[in-house]
Amino acid sequence: MSLRADFLWGGATAANQCEGAYNLDGRGLANVDVVPTGKERFDIISGKRKMLDFEEGYFYPAKEAIDMYHHYKDDIKLFAEMGFKTYRLSIAWTRIFPKGDELEPNEQGLAFYEDLFKTCQAYGIEPLVTITHFDCPIHLIKEYGGWRNRKMIEFYERLVRVLFTRFKGLVKYWLTFNEINMILHAPFMGAGLVFEDGENEEEIKYQAAHHELVASALATKIAHEIDPENMIGCMLAAGEYYPLTPKPEDVFLAQEKNHENYFFIDVQSRGEYPAYALKQLERNNIMIKMTEEDLDTLKNHTVDFISFSYYSSRVVTTDDSVEKTAGNIFKSVKNPYLEASEWGWQIDPLGLRTTMNAIYDRYQKPLFIVENGLGAIDTPDESGNIIDDYRIDYLRAHIQAMKEAVELDGIDLLGYTSWGCIDLVSAGTGEMKKRYGFIYVDRDNEGNGTLTRTKKKSFDWYKKVIASNGEDL
Ligand code: BG6
Repeated sequence: MSLRADFLWGGATAANQCEGAYNLDGRGLANVDVVPTGKERFDIISGKRKMLDFEEGYFYPAKEAIDMYHHYKDDIKLFAEMGFKTYRLSIAWTRIFPKGDELEPNEQGLAFYEDLFKTCQAYGIEPLVTITHFDCPIHLIKEYGGWRNRKMIEFYERLVRVLFTRFKGLVKYWLTFNEINMILHAPFMGAGLVFEDGENEEEIKYQAAHHELVASALATKIAHEIDPENMIGCMLAAGEYYPLTPKPEDVFLAQEKNHENYFFIDVQSRGEYPAYALKQLERNNIMIKMTEEDLDTLKNHTVDFISFSYYSSRVVTTDDSVEKTAGNIFKSVKNPYLEASEWGWQIDPLGLRTTMNAIYDRYQKPLFIVENGLGAIDTPDESGNIIDDYRIDYLRAHIQAMKEAVELDGIDLLGYTSWGCIDLVSAGTGEMKKRYGFIYVDRDNEGNGTLTRTKKKSFDWYKKVIASNGEDL
């Protein structure tokens, strides 16, 4: 068995990391716009430091990003040249509903995405659309407190109804929330949460998660009602936790950490809160307000497929003295068997196969790898070319492991979209120099550069991979 003939090869981006044009054509302000580069960034994305507007003395990379808003036709043309079968992108909520609680959508925002999808269609590229990729209208945060408020379900429902209706026939594959488990680690990005001193952060995060889970199930219901062809996926920031040692306490801790992430997908895919989570919430005195109707919605509208990002496996131990890796939103112990990227992300291709097996064993639904890649500094050589063999090596090893998961383990896999197929702003650090693309964009961390697009060596390599359906790596 090899990869399916209609395997969806492609690349992935997110609106706030590439579009720019933050204030054009009626777009409103979102949380992701007001996250600057620099040392405060992590405190802001984790909801510990409040920044709900632009402040003097900071650089906000999402304002212009790589200006894909004005370059999308050329960029999609390049994707088509690589042979993309799919392009994963996200909708900027504030282009459609600038404040988030309006009754009528902004036509200019809808027209922008309609043209983008038609551009994809003209090249035979299937859009894979993330409805929310870390974005939340600022007005909804200021006025309602973001996803801690149940009213968010209603605003999200309005958004998805508009999207599914308007883009019926143009878009079939949808993801409800990017990396839904990120709410635990970067709650300002994951759910527009900012905490006041003394608040019970855990309870607020799980309440917000409940609202997102219900909203996701409602979106699935509405999507299927509007067009039975629609395929709805959940999206997990995946990467199995390994125990550092065979000490039973380490093994158990690894299982607990895996549960922490699978909790979200268990609800979205199996349709109910898993017993281990209910017990843990009870032990921690966390009371989630939920209605009988919520439970019915969750039960009856589970996802069609499971999508996930994979960059690295993770390691845990009960021994606090061991060395941790740098630069991760997800903290991990250093794995002595693995090399790491320049940002400290440990490189583990076999871990992708392990992770795919763990997810498939658990849910028995088709999988979709919607993010994978290497963030690295690219330096043009004397002739201006970027010879990114390190990126090719990373992707080759991961695609090989992915194929083994399909060919040797029998996993049903719909497709693979590498992250940041064109260089874009890093979500974690806000940098431009942390590049993932096959296409180089001339722009630096401070926002200088011509925005010119140039093919890297990996461009032709990926083209060959797609043309051979993964046989020629
Ligand atoms: C995922 C996100 O967490 O990882 C992307 O869905 C993000 O938005 C990607 O860009 C890579 O992380 P970073 O921090 O290198 O941009």
